[in-house]
Order: sequence, then structure tokens, then C-alpha cells
Amino acid sequence: MSDRPVYEFPADLIEKLRAARHVAVLTGAGVSAESGIPTFRDALTGLWAKYDPMTLATREAFQENPRLVWEWYTWRRNRVGEADPNPAHYALVEIERRVPHFTLITQNVDGLHHRAGSVHVIELHGNITRVKRFDDDVIVERWEDNGLDPVRCPDTGSLLRPDVVWFGELLPAEALQTAQAAAVNCDIFFTIGTAAMVEPAASLPRLAMNYGTPVVIVNPAVTLRSSSSLYLLKGPAGQILPALVQATWGV
Ligand code: APR
Repeated sequence: MSDRPVYEFPADLIEKLRAARHVAVLTGAGVSAESGIPTFRDALTGLWAKYDPMTLATREAFQENPRLVWEWYTWRRNRVGEADPNPAHYALVEIERRVPHFTLITQNVDGLHHRAGSVHVIELHGNITRVKRFDDDVIVERWEDNGLDPVRCPDTGSLLRPDVVWFGELLPAEALQTAQAAAVNCDIFFTIGTAAMVEPAASLPRLAMNYGTPVVIVNPAVTLRSSSSLYLLKGPAGQILPALVQATWGV
């Protein structure tokens, strides 16, 4: 016998999911927690314990000490490289295969949705594996790092930085517009593994709700109350999502 908990899902949620033509999903750090990737707020351990991420993930911090910020991201990138997608990522791939139109909006920069096989992914906060020029945001594929000096573009000499959205920076406009359109047009909106506190991503489930769309929250720490249009699935995404796929499509 399996010792996995058995989840009971509301029958009308299963019906709505089976009938949905367009499913939109917002994911956050909680989806990658079971892959062993520390969330942004608890990323700082060991060598980095004395730094506050808020003071590292800004343009000002980078301008002041580009080498320090570069090294922090190298450390984070290496941890992402060692991680694998988990059952939550794979369950989202299964949902994408079963609904006609699927939009996966992620705040995560780890690229694990792509690695799991999701196709329609909007990376609202960028991707930690890419590097771009500080001066003009052009993506750069090759550079040299002597381990000491700030890393620069070999063509222009601009400082190089990770292609992620730092505090105080605007989100990529097209990605945000596509995400908002999905929130407005979908039949069900999922909010999975995110505290939904950082704008503008946090407003996407509200936008869906304003259009009368059912919203499903998957999080072990939910404290809200369910209603006819708000479904709370309390537990780890790596267990809830495969169980939901099984209950809906029998796979
Ligand atoms: N399954 C589902 N949810 C989980 C799991 C899990 N196994 N483990 C933790 N969670 C939930 C937590 O309860 C919390 O609500 O995931 C959420 C993670 O919240 P945050 O750490 O605030 O991450 P996120 O919402 O993605 O942060 C948004 O803020 O830090 C910045 O730019 C960064 O993209 C990030 C953004």
C-alpha cells in the first residue's frame, strides 16, 4: 500500500477542469521547493548567510559591487543546474497535453518548467541561466571570467548581469501583457506555490476572479476560505497536482 495521502477534490472542480478550453497557471518558488531549490527568501545559507537578498538583487547593488552580485548568481545558477524537475512540473506538462489552450506563467527563474517539457511558458521574472549586457539588455552567449574582476561583454565592454528582473525593475512588457490576457480569457486559473505578494504577478489571480473565473490555489500554507469560485487545495504541489491529474483524466 502507498503511504501517500489520498486527496479528495470537489466534484465540480474536476468537471470544470475536464471541460476547460483554456487553463492558465501562475507558479512561484513553492513549485520548485520539492526539487530542492531554495526560495528566494531562504536562498542565503553558508557563505552567503550574511547577505540580504534584497540588497543583492537590485541595480544599485550591482553597480556598487558587480563581482559580488555575479558570484551570488553563479552560486544560485549552479544549484539550479544540479536540480531536476519534480512531479509538480511533470503534472503541469500532463495538463498542457490535455487542454486545448494552456498558458503557464511562472515567477521562477530556474527554467525547470521548460526542462520538464512544458511548452507555453511565460517567464515573468526572466531566467537565471541567461546573461545580458547591463548597458542595453542584449543577451550574451560567451564571456570570460577570471574569477576576480567584474565580467564584461567581449564585444562592447559592458558589464554582464543575469537576465532576471531585479527589485525596482519593470517586467518584460510583452510577457506581462500575454499573462494578463491569459488571466482574462481562461476558464480556470491556478495559483501554485506562490505567496502572491509581489506585484504585478500577484494581481493576475485577482484579475481572473474579477472576470468570474474560478481560481484554484495549491499551497501547503493556505489560510483563505474556499467559496464556489475559489478552490483551496492545501498541500505540496508535487503531491496535489499529480493526484488532480489522476482524478480528472485517470492518468
Ligand atoms: N508546494 C506548493 N507550495 C509551496 C510548497 C510546495 N511544496 N512549499 C512552499 N510553498 C509555498 C509557500 O507556502 C509560499 O506561499 O510557496 C510559496 C513561496 O512563496 P515565496 O517564497 O514568496 O515565492 P514567490 O511567491 O514565488 O515569490 C515571488 O518574489 O522573491 C521574489 O522575484 C522573486 O519570483 C519571486 C517573487
